Amino acid sequence: MSQFDVRKVGGRIGAEVVGVDVRDLSDEVFAEIGAALLEHKVLAFRGQDLTDDDQIAFASRFGALTGAHPTVPGDEERPEILPVDSESSRADQWHTDVTFVRTPPKISTLRSLVVPPYGGNTLISNTAAAYRDLPEELRLLAERLWAVHTNDYDYVRPASAGADPEKFAAHREAFVSRVWKTAHPVVRVHPESQERNLFIGGFAQSVVGLSSRESRALLDIFQSYVTRPENVFRWRWAPNDLIVFDNRITQHYAADDYGDLPRLLHRVTVAGDVPVGVDGKESYRVEGDDASHYTPTATAA
Ligand SMILES: [Fe+2]
Repeated sequence: MSQFDVRKVGGRIGAEVVGVDVRDLSDEVFAEIGAALLEHKVLAFRGQDLTDDDQIAFASRFGALTGAHPTVPGDEERPEILPVDSESSRADQWHTDVTFVRTPPKISTLRSLVVPPYGGNTLISNTAAAYRDLPEELRLLAERLWAVHTNDYDYVRPASAGADPEKFAAHREAFVSRVWKTAHPVVRVHPESQERNLFIGGFAQSVVGLSSRESRALLDIFQSYVTRPENVFRWRWAPNDLIVFDNRITQHYAADDYGDLPRLLHRVTVAGDVPVGVDGKESYRVEGDDASHYTPTATAA
């Protein structure tokens, strides 16, 4: 019998877990939380008064951790912590974390330190529901396609109000200081649940075998299913919240609607495996190294 409640937030994605302290979970309760994460794709925990070390310890229960990011420097003392700071960047585009490397993280955790009194919500989409929404003809097409994901693309935007233009420019420069390109299946089979899902997002910039114009048109069509309101969970942050999402089967977006108010989250991610398509074929590197400085699951292929 569970001592805690898992309360669905949306019909298709997301649940709030009530009645646990993530610093103190028995193996049995942790296993139930893991199962709930597989089912709901994202779990939210309110009122968790965690330190960085607590967040690292909780994330570690899901597996080995990655570094903060392949290129963006993390916290000086704790290399697993990536500060998500409104002064230096805004993640206001749909993406799955770090899909430009061959082994993107399997799970991301985000913890709120400073939140604006309004706005700055995090949106998370169920990409398996998006896949299931496709008409059969598009589903069959998607299953055959491979997309190249890269961290180096024409992402051009002015610094947001309240952002520090120098920090913004420095973040961008660090982000693309090394370039990776990786081909992933457009339809990925989740390694634990076997659920098929649309594995694209903001780093997917081209489709193998198609022109850039054809690629963009097709990716936009598939992405329109990912961003359908029915498939999206929306989290309104309070301080000391923790959200955990399955990065193998979701995309997310941080709404940049809080002007010059400060917002600071800390991210810790769990290392993931090599994505696999419906035909069993694995993702492969197109450019860049195996990112072994970043993720312990790096493999050479
Ligand atoms: Fe992200």
